[in-house]
Amino acid sequence: ADLDLQAVHDEMVAVAYEAGRMILAANPADIDTGTKLNSVDIVTEVDKGVEKMVSTRLAAALPSVAFMGEETYKPGMRLGPEPTFVVDPIDGTVNFVHSLPGACISLGLAVDRAPAVGVIYNPWQDLLFTAIKGRGAYMTRLKGTPPQKLPLAKAPRPLEGLGTALVAVEWGSGRDGPNFELKTDVFKKLAGSRDIGGSMVHSLRSMGSAALNLAAVAAGQLDAYWEGGCWAWDVCAGWCILDEAGGRMASGNPGDWHPALEGRVYLAVRGAPSGQGELIEEFWGVIGD
Ligand code: IPD
Repeated sequence: ADLDLQAVHDEMVAVAYEAGRMILAANPADIDTGTKLNSVDIVTEVDKGVEKMVSTRLAAALPSVAFMGEETYKPGMRLGPEPTFVVDPIDGTVNFVHSLPGACISLGLAVDRAPAVGVIYNPWQDLLFTAIKGRGAYMTRLKGTPPQKLPLAKAPRPLEGLGTALVAVEWGSGRDGPNFELKTDVFKKLAGSRDIGGSMVHSLRSMGSAALNLAAVAAGQLDAYWEGGCWAWDVCAGWCILDEAGGRMASGNPGDWHPALEGRVYLAVRGAPSGQGELIEEFWGVIGD
């Protein structure tokens, strides 16, 4: 039977709030921290505990939906066409271990390998972003208050182009070889080029959470977000929210979501009445694709 996406969304929101309570209850100073691919690819017992709670609750409520989570992912796992929850229990783990309050739970549902529902929750700000494919994207600033439609009515001026843009970029944990060269080269070109319609990007931001970057682009608070190498759980929820807010993900590849997305370059651009084509072209022009 077809999934009732509204019911799935409502369950995901309830689970996200529960995850938020767990994250806020933890004291980063007291928790065990380990590493995965390298010394800056960090995982804590809270990431694992939240993922366990999320997978258990979602399996009980929606047993027909498959599950893929950052902390239980094993090399070789592939995202299939069947409805699958794609979950990052704490997106922004490095911020979390430093008690910098910019992290979230990112809960996506993929159907046919494309994002269908997205729920992102930052518990420090009690800030919830949600979307269901075809039904718009919303932000709720405090639990119980009315959701605001995205992009926000108070978003800044219309997107003009890269020359007046605020652009998020991230270091991620892959920082060697060609991956590192690509990142530093792009950062340098974006920050320093005076050749973008005679000006430069307003500035670059690195807030430490792919999902929160995508949500901010969807809201209209950032103009674009570039990252060279993300995983499916970093982007599934945010991608749905971005799409539903009229934004666009360029160079992603929803039809072939191998979770090992290293090397895959993402550029998310916020909604614009005349489309995002020009900014995307300017962007590739500056960084030289
Ligand atoms: C990471 C964060 C980071 C981004 C990485 C992600 P994690 O997720 O979103 O900002 O640069 O690509 O993997 O490890 O905190 O869940």
